[in-house]
Amino acid sequence: MDIVGAFACSHAGLIVTRADLAPAESKASLFGAFRRMGDEVLRLKPDAVVMIGTDHGRIFDLTHVPQFTIGVNTVARSIGDAELPVEDVAIHDTFARSILNGLLEADVDLSYSEAMKIDHSFISPLTLAFGDVRPKIVPIVQNCNSPPLPTLRRSYAFGRALGDAIRGGPDGRVVVIGTGGLSHWVGSERFQKFMREPAGTRLARKPEYPLELTDTGYVNEKFDRDFMRMIAEGRAQEFVSGWTTDRLFEAAGNGGQEIRNWLTVAGAVQDAGAEMLGYGAVAEWLTGTAIARFDMRTAH
Ligand SMILES: [Fe+2]
Repeated sequence: MDIVGAFACSHAGLIVTRADLAPAESKASLFGAFRRMGDEVLRLKPDAVVMIGTDHGRIFDLTHVPQFTIGVNTVARSIGDAELPVEDVAIHDTFARSILNGLLEADVDLSYSEAMKIDHSFISPLTLAFGDVRPKIVPIVQNCNSPPLPTLRRSYAFGRALGDAIRGGPDGRVVVIGTGGLSHWVGSERFQKFMREPAGTRLARKPEYPLELTDTGYVNEKFDRDFMRMIAEGRAQEFVSGWTTDRLFEAAGNGGQEIRNWLTVAGAVQDAGAEMLGYGAVAEWLTGTAIARFDMRTAH
């Protein structure tokens, strides 16, 4: 398969369900950027979109938390979280199987599901970018929400291996999209602190720590702009070597851990530079919202 395009974007369900609470100018420019991403993807005529999203603890609820999971079989079903509808999204099963086998052959212990469930990290960008015209996807879920998380180094290296597995597969055209971030803090401080308690201590107490969303949220625009600049300049490896998970918690919040999915795409496209199609620090959506297109000609 050839990677004919690559993008990264934010994914908050609130972008859809609280669309009209954002300042009109932000909404117009960011909805336009999502739509532009969708139009550009469709113009590339991909056979499938390899989507790297995450799970927010509703699918892998601490009973079993895989770090990387791919959906094989022919359909992924959304769980209807974040007030988005339950729906089936078609999987390109041949490509999914090929990527799974390719990564295993490369000694990457990728988990897989034959009954893949996906959450708003897939459905919100699909809705915003494509409306009802959905390309087939290959869904990959990276753990960005239930610590301990993969190291940033691993998120990037997984992308490198993913890119190799895609390119080593059967003929076809693939676009890669990573979703998540940028900076945001989700849930109360009490909830955030609880989720960082050690693995093995949380499952029984989790019902005491419900996720409650506030009306507005803090966004670290400086972090977002610095991160976007490094991605734009093809410096994902430099970012990985300068940052840790703990530092990311401080600067970009628990939601900022999702920039892993941007790093994975950067790895898959061999550090191609990128152009930002849109950015807004939207307090009403609780997140720094960004959309980026990688420039495949600058892979190195
Ligand atoms: Fe998220």
